Amino acid sequence: MRVVKVSAPGKIILSGEHAVVYGYPAILAAVDRRLFVEVKKSKAGFEIIPQEGGTLGRYALEKIKGNLKVKDLRGLKIKIDSQIPIGCGMGSSAAFAVAITAAIFEFLRKPWKPEKINEIAYEIEKKQHGNPSGGDNTISTYGGFLWYRKESEGLKIFRPLEVKELPDFFLINTGKPKENTGEMVTMVKNLYLKFPTRIEELFRKMETVTKEFLRFLLKEESSDLKELIMANEKLLESLGVVSLKTRQLIQKIEKIGGAAKISGAGGVKKGSGIILAYHKDPQFLLNFTQKENLDIFKVKLGVEGVRKENE
Ligand code: PMV
Repeated sequence: MRVVKVSAPGKIILSGEHAVVYGYPAILAAVDRRLFVEVKKSKAGFEIIPQEGGTLGRYALEKIKGNLKVKDLRGLKIKIDSQIPIGCGMGSSAAFAVAITAAIFEFLRKPWKPEKINEIAYEIEKKQHGNPSGGDNTISTYGGFLWYRKESEGLKIFRPLEVKELPDFFLINTGKPKENTGEMVTMVKNLYLKFPTRIEELFRKMETVTKEFLRFLLKEESSDLKELIMANEKLLESLGVVSLKTRQLIQKIEKIGGAAKISGAGGVKKGSGIILAYHKDPQFLLNFTQKENLDIFKVKLGVEGVRKENE
């Protein structure tokens, strides 16, 4: 029996989350944690494993069906297997949207068109998050490092960045946020509506930091990475998307000479998802997280985007 397997990576945002929803730039990187989708025929009709993926899975199939103009996609068994923590700012839902779209394309022997896969995945992301920037699905589709900017609904500009060398980055899990991405984006929108001048000013400052980050990555400028991450985090804190618990943790990381920032939507009530941590001597971070009993893992940035797994 024909079995198709496809995978797509999760992501982190180096700079520009939230501001990117309002047309400001962001820098995203694909990380070496992937989500796998396997598709085969099923006599029992539509099956999805795990079942939690059912609602979004069905929605995704409807979108794909409409787009590919196929009549029926019910007789399929879809298995999802993921290394990306769910709801922690690592783009798990986008990786799912990209991987399921690509897997169905492949199963139906449709041409492998990243542009089309990305477009459909964006539609699926809208169902999940309401008003996404489209950055998450784009990085999961294309992989690597991306400069991304949503000029309008119909014009999303992105460019791959050639990043030659980068120091080690670590991810520390501050706990799954109580709020989902859609709720965090709505929270910022309400703030924006209430205090437009103040929030625009924050976004403009974020753009300045994002551009400095870009010049650092392209080796046009030898900025201090620690300062860049700290500046980034401070702006996100001013935007109110980082919980007290996470802010305190980040302060401790700064005290031992490192820096950290949330990546993605964040979270206010409890955890803020994963934070991206850096120290010029990583051993300090490892000792610290061991002492504090925290989950830490090293990540490789800039990995391959969506790909076929069984060829
Ligand atoms: O938390 P995540 O992985 O869903 O990332 C969301 C990033 C935001 O900028 C907050 C929203 C978006 O659509 O870009």
